[in-house]
Amino acid sequence: MTDAVSGTPSPEERLILLLVGAVGAGKGTQATILSREFGLPHLASGNLFRAAMAAGTRLGEEAREHMERGELVPDEITIGMFIEELAKPHAARGAILDGFPRTVGQARALDDTLASHGERIRRVIYIEVPADELVRRVAGRWICPTCGTPYHETADPPRVAGICDKDGTPLRQRDDDRPEVVRARLARQVPPMLEVVDHYERAGIVDRLDGTQPIDAVTQDILSHVGSEARS
Ligand code: AP5
Ligand code: MG
Ligand code: ZN
Repeated sequence: MTDAVSGTPSPEERLILLLVGAVGAGKGTQATILSREFGLPHLASGNLFRAAMAAGTRLGEEAREHMERGELVPDEITIGMFIEELAKPHAARGAILDGFPRTVGQARALDDTLASHGERIRRVIYIEVPADELVRRVAGRWICPTCGTPYHETADPPRVAGICDKDGTPLRQRDDDRPEVVRARLARQVPPMLEVVDHYERAGIVDRLDGTQPIDAVTQDILSHVGSEARS
């Protein structure tokens, strides 16, 4: 519940933080760190789709068609999947949202669902990085197929080359990180993402950060914006 007069969240309101940024901006990297820092689950729409694809479900097959082309998965599929995830017991104290919402339709659906429980997104962190840097980053990215942790060959290597630090799984490159798919992801997904930023700017809850800084400097910037929220 939110105090209608002061806008101050009451203690039982979940802490819901949203990370927004283009392909390769560092959402997954920062969400992994924040999840540990705040003891909240990291909910990533891309990871949920990849898990559904690996499990061979119908949702996974539908998502694959769009993801392979660098397109957004339609709202009809995405909204239900993500809101169901956010309602699970592991998100009872809050969550770090990575990659959802990324259309205004998704944002409105999420806002309405949260409002129906007297909740809202607490802060939106927009990680800004220029396009050429993004393309370089995803070219050197390796991810863990088990836990979804992203690594980078030079900027954030695992302790043992090719192996996830957390669970020992051999790392893989993502099918949608081929240069032509990355270009399509930038062209098709950045405009709707900017509309989402604009949507939350109107509510005055967006913090824009320089995502070209080293990983731990970006983390410090995020903590300086949301640290007090997390401890309130
Ligand atoms: P998703 O998996 O979310 O992909 P994305 O948004 O394109 O973002 P990425 O995961 O590629 O980048 P990231 O910001 O997480 O960067 P990371 O931390 O890994 O979605 C995949 C697809 O699913 C979409 O294309 C779409 O089809 C579909 N989809 C997902 N959500 C959807 C939705 N809501 N609606 C519709 N469709 C949806 O970092 C990248 C690399 O850079 C890593 O190697 C990392 O080590 C390195 N790095 C990170 N930070 C730094 C730094 N500060 N300095 C140097 N290197 C860094
Ligand atoms: Mg990611
Ligand atoms: Zn792992």
